[in-house]
Amino acid sequence: MHLSEILFHLGEEREYYFNAVAPPIWQTSNFAFPTLDAFRQAIADELGHHIYTRGNNPTTEILRKKLAALEGAEEALVFPSGMAAISAAVLANLKAGDHVLCVDKPYSWTKTLLTRWLPRFGVSHTFVDGRDVENFRRAARPNTSLLILESPNSLTFELQDLRACAEFARSRGIVTCIDNTNCTPLFQRPIELGIDLSIHTGTKYLNGHSDVVCGAVCGSREQIRKIFENEFMTLGAQLPPHDAALVIRGLRTLELRLKRSFESALTIARRLEAHPRVERVLFPWLESFPQHELARRQMSGCAGLLSFYLKLERPEEAEAFFHRLERFLLAVSWG
Ligand SMILES: Cc1ncc(COP(=O)(O)O)c(C=O)c1O
Repeated sequence: MHLSEILFHLGEEREYYFNAVAPPIWQTSNFAFPTLDAFRQAIADELGHHIYTRGNNPTTEILRKKLAALEGAEEALVFPSGMAAISAAVLANLKAGDHVLCVDKPYSWTKTLLTRWLPRFGVSHTFVDGRDVENFRRAARPNTSLLILESPNSLTFELQDLRACAEFARSRGIVTCIDNTNCTPLFQRPIELGIDLSIHTGTKYLNGHSDVVCGAVCGSREQIRKIFENEFMTLGAQLPPHDAALVIRGLRTLELRLKRSFESALTIARRLEAHPRVERVLFPWLESFPQHELARRQMSGCAGLLSFYLKLERPEEAEAFFHRLERFLLAVSWG
């Protein structure tokens, strides 16, 4: 399906709401049924019906359809934060006694989930340098059931070869998931490369206006149903309909925003690289990036994040640098 068809039309059944161009916000907790039979039928398949907004709501459903189509997935669920999405996808694929392989230096709270939370339930983990799939192979154990990827990873942008990781994991019966926030499905389509679950914090590019915290998990119908019937419903992890409407609005401009972010980031990365006070720039689209060839092979662009090392003589110079920034804000998140 054409990208603009997904962003502007998919899931929006305008004939049911007076041909409104912007999808309505169904701000309701409950949906009533005309007969007991209809009620029974709906309860037998809560994901496929509108019963109660903790499960399914028409506004969030529009967003779910768009995100699934963007990722080339059968289904998607949306969550009130990226961390809710990551936690639900991870918990759904683990039981006591399991072992998790996770790429080195993931997003900080993903690390906390593995190091602080899961050990309480008897789940162990190993962080692995994901630049070589052989490292995952060596660290795998008979009880490894989940492989968590983040490519590019947080802060240093190291990549994993997604096709090779998916092949290795499948051969061992290990479920794979990736935090695909950095690239968005416009620049990287992990499910087409064999990854089981593609996860996002929609707080960043998907919404794109710094006014919503949200998350998403995209994958097969079977995986999504498993997450829905367990973690999603028990933890109460639904994105509120009003926030879903804001994300749908944000998606309208996703293509334009990403194109511009990518162009600007590449210009800035090149200028920084040429600057005498900059030691090194980390941006996968730079020819100097150690995994540049892999970036070109599995990504079609690079969005707007980059890191760089300053040449400093004294630590105070770093503070002075930050205080002189005019356009770049000091903040914890890029969304
Ligand atoms: C790569 C990555 N994954 C996940 C998250 C968590 O997302 P949220 O803040 O929406 O829970 C973040 C937040 O900064 C992130 O940068």
